[in-house]
This record gives sequence, C-alpha cells and structure tokens, in this order.
Amino acid sequence: MLGGAAAAGAALPVLGGLLHQGNGDRALATEPHMHGGGAPGGHAGHEDFAHASFAAGRSVDHRANGFDPTEVLRDFDYGKTRRLAGGRLLREWTIVAQDREIEVAPGVKYEAWTYNGRVPGPTLRAREGDKLRIRFVNGSQHPHTMHFHGIHTSQMDGMPGIGGGQIPPGGDFTYEFDAEPFGLHLYHCHVAPLAAHIARGLYGAFIVDPKKGRPDADEMVMVMNGFDTNFDLSNEVYAVNSIGFHYINEPIRVSRDELLRIYLVNVLEYDPLNSFHVHANFFQYYPTGTSLQPSELTDTVILGQGQRGILEMKLPFDGDYMFHAHVSEFAELGWSGFFRVGDPPRFAGAAAAAAYCELPWGGGRPA
Ligand code: CU
Ligand code: CU
Repeated sequence: MLGGAAAAGAALPVLGGLLHQGNGDRALATEPHMHGGGAPGGHAGHEDFAHASFAAGRSVDHRANGFDPTEVLRDFDYGKTRRLAGGRLLREWTIVAQDREIEVAPGVKYEAWTYNGRVPGPTLRAREGDKLRIRFVNGSQHPHTMHFHGIHTSQMDGMPGIGGGQIPPGGDFTYEFDAEPFGLHLYHCHVAPLAAHIARGLYGAFIVDPKKGRPDADEMVMVMNGFDTNFDLSNEVYAVNSIGFHYINEPIRVSRDELLRIYLVNVLEYDPLNSFHVHANFFQYYPTGTSLQPSELTDTVILGQGQRGILEMKLPFDGDYMFHAHVSEFAELGWSGFFRVGDPPRFAGAAAAAAYCELPWGGGRPA
C-alpha cells in the first residue's frame, strides 16, 4: 500500500522518516531494538525482528494515549448492572465520542476519533438475553453514531436518517436493545464517509456470551486495525489493538497449557482482507462465535472487514511464539506479536465468570 502511495506521488514521509521510501522497500527502522528484561529460560528477545520494529527501542507513550494495548487485551466492560422487575439484567454504558491525537507507532501521531478516548473503543460485554442500554454522547467535532452488529430494530441501528439518525456534535442518543444472538460482534460509527469514520478509530468489540457461558479461559480481545497516517486511502501502520509492534515489544504472557480464548475482530479499512496466524500451535475456530462447536482446527484464519471469530488453544510448550497477519506486508508494518508461554497458574479464576457476579461497583472493572 505504501508502494502505491509512493507511485502515486502521495505525500511522504508518512512515518516521520522511519519508512524507507523506495518502492517495494518496506523495511522500517534498521537499528537493533532491545527488548526490556528478556524472558526467563533463555529467550533472548527477537533480534531478527529488530529490523521489523519501528524506531529502535523507542516506544509509544501509552499514558499520553490514554490506553495501553497490553491492558486493552483483557479489559472487558460489563457496564453498570441492575436487575429489572422480572429478573432480567439491565446493562448500561455511557460512551462518549472524542477527537484525540494518539501515537500509533513511535513518533507517529494520528488525529483519531475515539469512543471513550481509546482505539479500539471499550470491549462491551453482555450475556445473551440481557437488556442493553447505551447512552451515546457526541463530544466530537463531527456527527457520529453507534451502529451495533446484532439483532435489533431499525430505530436502534445507528444509521443516519433512521431513528435517532446521526448524532450532531454536542448531541446524544440512547440505544436500547437485547443482547442477541450470542457470539462475537462489533460496533462502529455509520456516518458517511463510512471508511473515514471507521478508519479514524470509531469501533470496538461487542461480546454476547451464551447463557451457559463458555469454559473458563484466559480471555483476550484482539481488534485488527490499521492507520492511514497520510490520508491517501491506504494504511501505513497495521496492528492489533492499534499500536504497531506493541506485542513484539511486550509479548503477551500466557500460561502453559491453560486454555486461551481470543476474540478476534477485523475492522481494517482500505484492505479487503486481513488474517491471523499463530506459530507452532493450532486453535479451534468458532466463526462469529455463534456456535459452541468449532468449525475448524487450524493455525490461520482470513477475515474480511467486519468479520470476526473466536479462537481457542492451549500452548503446550514454554517459549515465545509469534502471531501475525499472514499478509507479510501487514506483518512488517506492525501487525506482529508474540505469546510468551510460561508457568501456570497466572490467571487463576476466569475474569469473565467473576464479572458476572453482581459486583459492588456494578460490574465492569473496579476503579
Ligand atoms: Cu462517525
Ligand atoms: Cu459493521
């Protein structure tokens, strides 16, 4: 995509000079990138990937961004809960659209549009049959909506011209519908030009758990995305949870032999397909998460935009295992990471299961 941009004479450099500009030369920073700490057991870091990581050891300022992809992974937002007469659970959220500059690779700033200040927006999580109420407040300079995937009336579909329509700056609207069907879904803005509104960062994962739940697991959310940093309708940075190479620099720690469940969503704009591939391991794949029976045991899935699925696997051997887009260009522009497998038990008790108890702070994460 960079090649296309260069060929078209589009504005460069897009990554603050970090990218070589030669056609077909997609290499990034060339100085060795040292990884902090080093893993026990002699994992000496990923020197071979030094050449694929941005900016020689500099990292993104997560604090300034207001979110850290390592935390985003396991951050599920269950909303505030209360029982309705009749016993149903009501979950309520307030989501605020905010324009916010974020750093998507070291030194590369992007004028993002966000839900609640982060990209991806919060991972909203409910149980099949719950009643959901999402108050959307538009604090952005542009009109937006929240369009949920799921089953609901047209009035609640977050489409311009229908129901609440597009919500102007300063406006607000409350979406209300039931959590169905169970599975892994997403939400995003649906205001035109759609690609721009989505690509700017207005999206998030939306999980509806089956009534009986799923087996306990170490669960995480991976939203595959990208950033068109020079607004030429193609991406310069590719990532999971927004920050290119984040999980190379900070491998995801997982327990050996513990069930790992990944909620994988593709929201990438401007490229028709994205993919997920894991090294040296296989996973059971549940397309859209709408069945409790996996469709395939594999190590690679390909997803179009808006497509998503649940991956389950156990990693039996200690060590570092790469995962990345099996589109080499994306992998080399940020969409790469590692699982660091080590001793259990690190994630005693399933966070998801615990969160369903009606917690004193009303669900969601304790402050
Ligand atoms: Cu929008
Ligand atoms: Cu959609």
